Amino acid sequence: MNRFDPLLSHAATVKDRHILDLFAADPSRAESFSAEAGPFLFDYSKTNIDADGMALLLDLAAQTGVAARRDAMFSGEKINETEGRAVLHTAWRSVEDSILVDGANVMPALRDTRARMQEFAAAVREGRYNGQGGTITDVVNIGIGGSDLGPAMASLACAAFADGPKLHFVSNVDGAHIHDTLAGLDPETTLVVVASKTFTTIETMTNAESARRWMAEVVTEPAKQFAAISSATDRTATFGIPAERVFGFEDWVGGRYSVWSPIGLSLMIGIGPELFDQFLSGAAAMDAHFRTAPFAHNLPVLLALVGLWHNQVLGHATRAVLPYEQRLARLPAYLQQLEMESNGKRVAMDGSDLPYHSGPVVWGEPGTNGQHAFYQLIHQGTRVVPCEFIVTANGLEPDLDHQHLLLMANCLAQSEALLRGRSLAEATEIMRAKGLEGAELDRQARHRVFPGNRPSTTLMFDQLTPATLGGLIALYEHRVFVEGVVLGINSFDQWGVELGKELALALAPVLEGTSDGAGKDGSTLQLAARIRALRG
Ligand code: F6P
Repeated sequence: MNRFDPLLSHAATVKDRHILDLFAADPSRAESFSAEAGPFLFDYSKTNIDADGMALLLDLAAQTGVAARRDAMFSGEKINETEGRAVLHTAWRSVEDSILVDGANVMPALRDTRARMQEFAAAVREGRYNGQGGTITDVVNIGIGGSDLGPAMASLACAAFADGPKLHFVSNVDGAHIHDTLAGLDPETTLVVVASKTFTTIETMTNAESARRWMAEVVTEPAKQFAAISSATDRTATFGIPAERVFGFEDWVGGRYSVWSPIGLSLMIGIGPELFDQFLSGAAAMDAHFRTAPFAHNLPVLLALVGLWHNQVLGHATRAVLPYEQRLARLPAYLQQLEMESNGKRVAMDGSDLPYHSGPVVWGEPGTNGQHAFYQLIHQGTRVVPCEFIVTANGLEPDLDHQHLLLMANCLAQSEALLRGRSLAEATEIMRAKGLEGAELDRQARHRVFPGNRPSTTLMFDQLTPATLGGLIALYEHRVFVEGVVLGINSFDQWGVELGKELALALAPVLEGTSDGAGKDGSTLQLAARIRALRG
């Protein structure tokens, strides 16, 4: 027995029917299986969910206590139970004057830090804060995971609004990343922002030291061109960054939820404090919707329930996120961390084994590029991949509007093709018209059959602006939250990243030849030996 049993029983009776039949039986299906919040329309009618299935899903959300848990999160309760922390990234976009953690109001300190960020960002943009060579032309954000993916994704998404220094993002410990990023930059007009909540992450600290060495070759006092985003002020001081350029945030903001906090500093420098405020406002509007809308019309809840239906109920292990919006190219990578680091957990909050699957594998690429790469498998492969299309109605290039129209037509065509498919009879007719007959006609036609009946959802909004981007990210954050609550897991820790980090530290001496690696398996020792031999 587990919480998905009623849904599994229901699914067993309906899983083979065609989604098109649901449309035929209910002319208002598209409207009934859609919901709106602010600028967003979420259409989940091209799925095999019917009214009974939706009722069961909504029951599940009610029974697992999503509403109470949501309210606990927003009010600063320590719902991150394995780390004993509150979960309050929402405070960074909140308009409330008082949010309590351990009885203390966190808002005054937060607003103070944001005011310092705004002043610093404005000073960089207006040339009041300069490098040795004058006005800052380039900002290099060094961070990884949540200290990179959020601002990197958002900076690309807001590229049309960027009028500040050029932004660059370095994350990988691979020296090629920092090398290629710094090549061509002028150290005298570059600002380096070291973004690490803990200020211990090996990749970030190694890259920060490399950047400092690069700058020190030309700049007399490199520390003057460094800023830090971290809560570890002792470590930032040891690194040599003065307190006035250190922007901290509390441990109740998880790395992958931190783009609203000082981790968004590079974005703020790029688009300016006012547009950054709009980014926050868009997210705050989604927060308000999540807190107040009935679940049947609540976008984060609906996205979560559709996801649970596909993964835990129907057994589709992956979810493709397909933005028809080139500037959302990094959104799938961002969502990979958000969803998979949050909900890739095999035990429930109480430590018991999950009797159902954890969150899905999330992957994707922008359309239309993906159409010419992996959509083949989505349309004709043996596995069903639920697809999540994201599309804007208007581009930001009025003179290229005809291209945006084509983009949208492609998006709608893909979800239609997934739904409708092409039958053997249709394929046969097409091939017969081309002159084929007999066994060859049959063989060729079979290759051209699309099974159809493949589920997708579409999230549509007007235009990609800082405000809609904020709403979009908050929507996904809350969707992950709801999924986590229904699964009964802690979405806010990430113990699964620790083991590899520990082993990497222990392996470095084996690669250097200063440890024999006693106790390591044969494959690891063979690979280490080959590395030593190849490096001479
Ligand atoms: O990889 C684990 C992780 O802790 C992520 O959750 C986090 O976003 C990233 O590392 C970076 O951490 P920090 O900001 O402390 O450098």
